[in-house]
Amino acid sequence: MDKLTERIKQLKNERDAVILAHNYEPPEIQDIADIIGDSLGLSIDAAKLDNPVIVFCGVSFMAESAAILAPGKKVLLPRLNCGCGLADMAEANALKKMRAEHPEAVVVTYVNSSAAVKAESDICCTSGNAVNVVKSIPKEQKIIFVPDRNLGNYVEKQTGRKMILWDGACPIHDLITAEDVTAARAENPKALVIVHPECKPEVVALADHVCSTGGMFDFVAGTTHKEFIVVTEEGMLYPLRKAHPDRIFHPVKKGGMICPDMKMISLNDVCASLEKLEHIVTVDQHCAAKARLALERMLAVPRH
Ligand code: 13P
Repeated sequence: MDKLTERIKQLKNERDAVILAHNYEPPEIQDIADIIGDSLGLSIDAAKLDNPVIVFCGVSFMAESAAILAPGKKVLLPRLNCGCGLADMAEANALKKMRAEHPEAVVVTYVNSSAAVKAESDICCTSGNAVNVVKSIPKEQKIIFVPDRNLGNYVEKQTGRKMILWDGACPIHDLITAEDVTAARAENPKALVIVHPECKPEVVALADHVCSTGGMFDFVAGTTHKEFIVVTEEGMLYPLRKAHPDRIFHPVKKGGMICPDMKMISLNDVCASLEKLEHIVTVDQHCAAKARLALERMLAVPRH
């Protein structure tokens, strides 16, 4: 083990800290993490872990959710500027205005959003539970879905419900085209195509399976199939290949599928974060209380 990794382990023990990392984080970060997962899994873990310190290796909305769900704990984000292009597309005052135009609607907000936007929402969802969250709402109820129109579109198709969709999208997933998938299939005809629901409807339509990043693990583990085309951010290839060295995973295209925010945190940042106990993620109390309600309602919806 190199000196930096050893130091991180030592500090982690001294602080009784736990390191959480999203599936898109760089390999070296995943390798030192205690728990790796998707947005839903990491939120559930943050809420139930006993450790007083959580180092969150992901983007800021994820660390914010952890801080909201684990109010007594120190949630540390090793780099302050890891944002999310999709979360930036929704703003709390604009959502308030939309709500005022549809006062009878329930607001379902994807976790890729700021705490302030969550605070203006009735219930949150992730890509792993969005369909179940919408199904949990009475059929006759009008729904506003924020901020991802692609995920919203997928949920509409799965539930047969029409929703008012916010016009946002993940700048990375939205770049993938149906032609990219068709070309990858032509090159790898034996592979199954697994697609993240943040992709455009015409890309989702070409999938053999649609799921969250965590769902990709479950899908691969549950099949004897050997080859897959992974239609999401490139970082996902590392944990899949690590967990299944006997299988073949192809990116949907070569290059360009990288979320720069998910690649910002380095091992030096994690070490400094544990050493100085920085940067503590704080959310305004009033906003946190309202956002917590929306997150807890989501966590109460059965996963399957
Ligand atoms: P998952 O919840 O599927 O990991 O997705 C998180 C995300 O931000 C995808 O772009």
